Amino acid sequence: MIGEIYADALAGESAEIEYVDGTRVMLETARWFEPIDGDEELLSRCASPTLDVGSGPGRLTAALTRRGIRSLGIDITPRAVALTRLAGGFALLRDVFEDVPGSGRWATALLADGNIGIGGNPEALLHRVRQLLRPGGTILAEVAPPGTRSRVDRLRLRRGPRAGDWFGWATVSASDIQRIGLAGGFAEVDCWTAHGRWLARLH
Ligand SMILES: C[S@@+](CC[C@H](N)C(=O)[O-])C[C@H]1O[C@@H](n2cnc3c(N)ncnc32)[C@H](O)[C@@H]1O
Repeated sequence: MIGEIYADALAGESAEIEYVDGTRVMLETARWFEPIDGDEELLSRCASPTLDVGSGPGRLTAALTRRGIRSLGIDITPRAVALTRLAGGFALLRDVFEDVPGSGRWATALLADGNIGIGGNPEALLHRVRQLLRPGGTILAEVAPPGTRSRVDRLRLRRGPRAGDWFGWATVSASDIQRIGLAGGFAEVDCWTAHGRWLARLH
């Protein structure tokens, strides 16, 4: 997801996700620029202030700002941050595992569009995001449909002969999110489906 090829993909260039076994699939960034069915399920549950982790081009951060929810997008890709600002959201170039403003004070943290995969270690990511939340805060995460195998893939982005660095990306199934959330110290974990997406609330 990370690096120049991803930045170029956000600018409209084509790019592929390449797995270690050689499988390649198109990276479809265009869908992140417009509202996606089911976004409302996330947006309507966000309280002020909300941290959009891995905000990409910022459709959710900007939508929250428009509806009067204080929100901040963080992303490690400068072009994503620039696009979020262009869309009308507040955004900073930050790695979620490093220094993030407002630590311990966020009411909601969003891990949308499969961003529970960031870092390739969902337990570590949930632990980190929990540190950023205020007591009683909530994580809203998008997970994979039940029956999907939860796993960590090594992948990289490719555009023709150019390939980026390998990185880890986790897939978490709706069937596993409750176990992972409860083991991570969350008291309540709900999971539901809307518009073909699987969403989880960890509280
Ligand atoms: C699947 S895309 C998310 C799309 C986004 N939610 C949207 O609405 O457009 C994943 C994003 O996470 C960002 N990312 C990856 N690792 C990150 C990290 N450690 N901290 C913050 N952002 C990260 C990537 O740069 C990328 O923009």
